[in-house]
Amino acid sequence: RSVVASAAWLKEHPTVRIRDTQNVQTKINGLIREGPSRVQLITDFDRTLSRTHYHGKPVSTSYCIFEDDHHVKEEYRDLAVQLRNKYYPIEINPNLSNEQKLPHMIQWYKESFDIVLKLKVHIDDLPAMVQRADLHLREHTVSLFSLLAKKGIPILVFSAGLGDVVRISLDQQGALCDNVTILSNFLEYDQQGWPVKFSDTLLHMYNKSALFPHAGEYYRSEKVSNRKNAVLLGDSIGDCSMADGAPQVKPPPDGDSVVLKIGFLDHDVEKRLETFLFLYDLVLVDDQTMDVVSELFEDVC
Ligand code: C5P
Repeated sequence: RSVVASAAWLKEHPTVRIRDTQNVQTKINGLIREGPSRVQLITDFDRTLSRTHYHGKPVSTSYCIFEDDHHVKEEYRDLAVQLRNKYYPIEINPNLSNEQKLPHMIQWYKESFDIVLKLKVHIDDLPAMVQRADLHLREHTVSLFSLLAKKGIPILVFSAGLGDVVRISLDQQGALCDNVTILSNFLEYDQQGWPVKFSDTLLHMYNKSALFPHAGEYYRSEKVSNRKNAVLLGDSIGDCSMADGAPQVKPPPDGDSVVLKIGFLDHDVEKRLETFLFLYDLVLVDDQTMDVVSELFEDVC
């Protein structure tokens, strides 16, 4: 039996909130019983693997690196900020359904993709831009990823952000191990290394599931096809569905898979905690580390 989520453990982990401790313990014991060969990690990137703040300053996201970069012309930065001010309030409006939000969100992606393409950042210049952005991963993400690499546990980074930035950022911070697959929105470049378009299948905040074509392929691949259990990390409502529809991941009542959902809740805690406690099995409140996830995997491995 794992001590994770026991009363004594919870006392020592003040960032952890759980609605149903018994259920979480049952899930963790299931993950441990079936071991490292049956589990996979599925995680969001922005504000999940990446921190929301570092040394008192907010941390950028894969989209924001352009608008936060002083090497980028001010007119583009202003445009990107205007888009965020227009569309982000729609994304977080609790009075609108996802169906009502979706056309606006697609429009946001379209307009911001246009800006990114107009910036004409050469493929060789992107790493320096990502470096300048200080897109810090949560503390101990690298050791968590190394542990999973050592144990052969696959990691899916499922990000509706900018895939090129996600890949470079993980690489620069030493977290791009062989067991990591990234599904996201990637730029396509011409032979001279200039960006020409984004990949055709848009991954947005509401289609993160096995229904997303590349995710369907991933879940059917040999790498994960016998891994029926999953630990899922996210920071939004859309992240909860990342394993939905994966043929091998069937939690009760359809199967006996264990899916443990861990949510990072860093801002507007009072307003959002109740919702998060229903969406996620275990909620981490303003925890800028991967310590809890690491402890869990140490027990599983
Ligand atoms: O992968 P994740 O769901 O975290 O990434 C999607 C997030 O990216 C959205 O929640 C949205 O706020 C943000 N976004 C953005 N700029 C865009 C489109 C989406 O910052 N142009």
